Amino acid sequence: MRDRGLLVGGLALFVAVITFPVWYNVAAGTPTRGPEPVRPAGTGRCVGPTEYMRASHMSLLMAWRDDVVRGQDRNFVGPDGKTYAKSLTRTCLGCHTSKAEFCDRCHDYGAVKLTCWECHIDPASLRKAQR
Ligand code: HEC
Ligand code: HEC
Ligand code: HEC
Repeated sequence: MRDRGLLVGGLALFVAVITFPVWYNVAAGTPTRGPEPVRPAGTGRCVGPTEYMRASHMSLLMAWRDDVVRGQDRNFVGPDGKTYAKSLTRTCLGCHTSKAEFCDRCHDYGAVKLTCWECHIDPASLRKAQR
């Protein structure tokens, strides 16, 4: 194998070029930034523990939808003992008043596309339209 040196050299060059953006950012000290959703201040707690909400809010929403649409079961008792309506708009967006700065920041970051807003309204967009 006369070409061994060339092969290994070529491979090393390939890896260096492919990972260049990573090394460049490390060298330039560019911090990797998360989506930084704006959490509501002064609205107490969420309808579930923060860790659970972060990982499983989609499953909770689907369960709420099924309960309401199939079972006419519209009330949810939160961990704080308070009763909430099982409602995307009234409950979730009632505390998380900026869909843009909360929900969208994460979803845009993760390239998650929601179809929900084709039917459900974002109250903030209504308020804007009425101004
Ligand atoms: C094709 C239209 C449509 C789409 C798309 C849609 N929904 Fe709904 N959704 C409805 C209708 C109609 C109801 C029943 C409203 C009622 O009875 O209060 C409902 C009810 C709900 C409810 C319970 C009631 C309430 O006030 O929120 C939840 C929660 C819900 N949907 C979540 C979602 C989520 C999450 C998505 C996206 C993944 C979604 N929906 C997409 C039409 C839609
Ligand atoms: C009573 C007000 C309230 C309601 C209602 C509410 N939330 Fe929250 N939510 C909060 C607060 C406050 C936090 C931040 C908790 C913390 O700082 O640990 C939070 C945190 C979260 C997080 C984690 C955010 C992060 O930065 O990791 C998600 C996701 C979330 N909520 C989604 C929802 C969804 C979906 C609904 C409706 C099913 C909902 N919330 C209903 C107040 C609320
Ligand atoms: C901390 C980041 C974060 C926040 C804040 C957040 N989401 Fe999400 N959401 C995600 C991620 C990541 C996914 C995709 C998860 C997956 O596919 O496994 C997701 C998925 C969803 C889904 C399921 C979409 C589908 O079609 O499967 C729904 C519904 C949803 N989010 C609703 C909301 C709503 C409503 C809010 C604001 C009240 C919100 N999310 C806030 C990170 C977030």
